[in-house]
Amino acid sequence: MTDVQTIELTPAIREKMIAEALEAQASAYCPYSNFAVGAAVLTCNGLIFRGCNVENASYGLTICAERNAIAAAVSAGQLNLIAVVVVTNSPKPARPCGACRQVISEFSIADSPTIIVSISKTGEGVEENINTLLPAQFNLL
Ligand code: THU
Repeated sequence: MTDVQTIELTPAIREKMIAEALEAQASAYCPYSNFAVGAAVLTCNGLIFRGCNVENASYGLTICAERNAIAAAVSAGQLNLIAVVVVTNSPKPARPCGACRQVISEFSIADSPTIIVSISKTGEGVEENINTLLPAQFNLL
């Protein structure tokens, strides 16, 4: 049993998250890659936070959309992620990068691993959980 209050990722909430991720994607700052990404995260009390990728002339300083959305949630005191939606203009759903998977796993819920929904340009979606995408995350313990 987890002591974290959880809500279900219903079809309606999923649609709302996709809409929020698409809005965030419109703000993507990606002049170097031209690859715009939007993300939305759902926290255990039903709040949705969003983010876009923010690139930099010093390429390695780029921050992914997922990590910006998570930073927004954590900055608001929300540490438990029910789901992450990521939208791109890729013809096939693009899953979160390895760095983002590690950060998602930090805020996943023990008995209810964070659901990852990846959505392509055409709206094709793939749904997996973080334990599938990152079966052996780095851990200090
Ligand atoms: N990017 C993300 O925003 N999320 C990911 O999971 C992988 C890649 C961004 C970083 C960069 O701005 C662009 O996509 C191309 O790599």
